Amino acid sequence: MTDSPAYTPPPSKGQAGADPYSVPLDQIDPSDPELFETDTLWGYFERLRKEDPVHYYDASEEEDFGPFWSVTKYDDIVYVEKNPELFSSEPTIVIPDPDPNFPLQAGFISMDGPRHDAHRKVVQPVSSPRNLTKLEPVIRERVIEILEGLPVGETFDWVDRVSIELTTGMLATMFDFPWDDRRKLTLWSDMATASDEQLADFGATREDREKALRECLEVFSKLWKDREGAESDSLDFVTAMANSEAYRDLEPLEYLGTLILLIVGGNDTTRNSISGGVLALNENQKEYEKLRSDLSLIPNMVNEIIRWQTPLAYMRRTATRDTELGGKSIKQGDRIVMWYVSGNRDESVIERANEFLIDRENSKQHLSFGWGVHFCMGSRLAEMQLRVLWEEVMKRFREVEVVGDAVRVKSSFVKGFAELPVRVHPW
Ligand code: HEM
Repeated sequence: MTDSPAYTPPPSKGQAGADPYSVPLDQIDPSDPELFETDTLWGYFERLRKEDPVHYYDASEEEDFGPFWSVTKYDDIVYVEKNPELFSSEPTIVIPDPDPNFPLQAGFISMDGPRHDAHRKVVQPVSSPRNLTKLEPVIRERVIEILEGLPVGETFDWVDRVSIELTTGMLATMFDFPWDDRRKLTLWSDMATASDEQLADFGATREDREKALRECLEVFSKLWKDREGAESDSLDFVTAMANSEAYRDLEPLEYLGTLILLIVGGNDTTRNSISGGVLALNENQKEYEKLRSDLSLIPNMVNEIIRWQTPLAYMRRTATRDTELGGKSIKQGDRIVMWYVSGNRDESVIERANEFLIDRENSKQHLSFGWGVHFCMGSRLAEMQLRVLWEEVMKRFREVEVVGDAVRVKSSFVKGFAELPVRVHPW
């Protein structure tokens, strides 16, 4: 890494320690990463759902975010998702606009219309039920290996030893990536999504990020060449792309964008659902007891964990023309932020939304995977990974006990954990 950059973090807004109902409504900034780091977001979103469900906040004076609308109720989020011709995914699905010096497009998640559909169609078969059935035994074998290697009787970090290791293994399997280099996938994913502040925390700069992503492109370009014309029993992402019409004339940065989409899409999200589930069960011992006495609840519990965690807190859209949303006038070009994390706690749609219930009815009725044309392409893969993990965990351990404070990531996009100290207790 190069020398530490001259980066000064923005001053705290002070929202994290405040009473959400005492902050003037127009000053509430739901994208404040401190709210996520300190897990104090809930009161703010509850207030917005009640008092200002489509909420305007202008962040242009503080950061390069600019003004944006926050959509916080379930039904309004679904409305935005259902109308892609009004609410575009271009140029990006995060609040800041793309960096003009490194215009990496995040693959087909930030495309609209037929171009999106053509690109998605190429890689979708990789996460089809048929292909996943073939891959499940490999994934299970890797889960078992990780669980059998855990240090019983010692405190260790679940995020590093299990969540990252497993997700990286799953991704390496899906890309058929060289096994010994698999941690590079984690590095590239972390680099691609890090804010300037997080880069500074790693001791890295924007140039380091660019260098890492160029290495990613180089490695994958070689894999692409090796797999052109290749046939294999089970399909991997690179083989699917290298042999498709839609990707034939791809610019290098477009290829990189799609790779990053697939790596980030599968990495942070699944990783944080794995950690979030352990914490949720520890904080809700009655549910842990239910699980111990009925393992057939695992698939339903997996849905509930994904709702509860909401690993991607939001997706952004951009208004294509003047329109109205929840009684507010939206102008062409306005940023619209769909807060899944809030929609998932909307009591007007989800009963007892603030409770973690592993036997919840309609547990699939959550927004964590989005909705409509961009609905998460890896949802089945993520659900399978979590199901296999919990099946194997419950065979070995009576309890995965959280024994210290969870350290949360300082980001309002990737909602997750940096550390989770645990001890495992065999039956
Ligand atoms: C618990 C785990 C996961 C969560 C919560 C999650 C969440 C999401 C969300 C919210 C979206 C955007 C949906 C929208 O705009 O309506 C998305 C899209 C996507 N996800 Fe996931 N994801 C997860 C796992 C995965 C995995 C394992 C992969 C594959 C390796 C993956 C690949 C993708 C792709 C390619 C898209 C873009 C789809 C499109 O634009 O058509 N995701 N995901």
